[in-house]
Amino acid sequence: MGQANLAIFSNLVHIGADPALIGFINRPTEAAPHTLANIQETEYYSVNHIHPGIYEKAHQTSAKYPEHISEFEAVGLTPLFRPGISAPFVEESHIQYLLKLEEVIPIKLNGTFLVVGSLQQAFIPEKIMEEDGYLSIEKANSLCSLGINGYYETKFLDKLPYAKP
Ligand SMILES: Cc1cc2nc3c(=O)[nH]c(=O)nc-3n(C[C@H](O)[C@H](O)[C@H](O)COP(=O)(O)O)c2cc1C
Repeated sequence: MGQANLAIFSNLVHIGADPALIGFINRPTEAAPHTLANIQETEYYSVNHIHPGIYEKAHQTSAKYPEHISEFEAVGLTPLFRPGISAPFVEESHIQYLLKLEEVIPIKLNGTFLVVGSLQQAFIPEKIMEEDGYLSIEKANSLCSLGINGYYETKFLDKLPYAKP
């Protein structure tokens, strides 16, 4: 088994619901080579929400560690391996999901990539699930970020019905 790789990513986007697809933007390979190479090699990768208890460690994963160093060890987060799943999760994270690589779309304009994965499994605390399937991520204390240095807590404001003309 190779070295477990971990990095913080904020440019995540919902691509579609059926099949459930989630994309993220990966910087040019010269700047951020390891995450994309690992995903292309192993096909499976996990996304783990950050919360106030781990955001500083999560931030530290963005440092340019050499390839042979595991960011898990370097920053003090725990890799969680589940039976039958090759990709590690972050044990300390409250919302975790597994994606399978479907497509890497180069964006010629600036050398970045849209990396598209399909949702395979999600590990979500029961207390945040509502009867209609809505997930109250603020109950898991999930954070948002702005740019590469600002972190925000999430506070529920409202839920609105499907808008009609
Ligand atoms: C808050 C924050 C958000 C980030 N979001 C992204 C992102 O969406 N895409 C990206 O390519 N890098 C992003 N980065 C930078 C990566 O974490 C960094 O380049 C990391 O070293 C990539 O790992 P790699 O070198 O193992 O591929 C972000 C950094 C921070 C601090």
